[in-house]
Amino acid sequence: MRDAVYPGSFDPITFGHVNIVKRAIERFDKLHVVVMDNPNKNYLFSLDERLAMVKNDLKEVKNVVVDTYNGLLVNYLKEHKIYNLIRGLRAVSDYEYELQMAHANKSLLPELEIFFLMADTKFSYISSSMIKEIAMYDGDISKWVSPYVESKLKERLLKK
Ligand code: PNS
Repeated sequence: MRDAVYPGSFDPITFGHVNIVKRAIERFDKLHVVVMDNPNKNYLFSLDERLAMVKNDLKEVKNVVVDTYNGLLVNYLKEHKIYNLIRGLRAVSDYEYELQMAHANKSLLPELEIFFLMADTKFSYISSSMIKEIAMYDGDISKWVSPYVESKLKERLLKK
């Protein structure tokens, strides 16, 4: 069995993330989508809320396990004996951060291989942060997130 892990903050999950999941699953037997904390970020949603949104948006995608982990990514990988990591790349602005993280993870776990999937053109400019900003002003975000995520964003940001 070839398993891979796709970790992220998913605050909240977008169609860009879903697109990466669907493409990654074509190349692996099982994909663990792991909702984690990035200590440098202030989240709008709790880990449990982010997990619920990821579970909802991926409920129909086969061979996907949605998980959460509060700790170092390499420890999750070691515990599950998974040595394939997936990350999405949009613009060149993502590159420096991804490069740093990739080298750090690889140095902590040398067996690790990291696969970068280029974001699909139609999602290459979107980010969870941008979507939150648009939602904050009640803009239309339906092209980028599921109705479930949209309702959670409106509930949190507009008290609707
Ligand atoms: O969606 P994000 O915020 O870009 O995902 C980053 C994430 C959560 C994958 C990263 O911050 C992470 O791996 N956090 C867990 C703690 C950890 O292992 N940090 C060291 C990374 S080199």
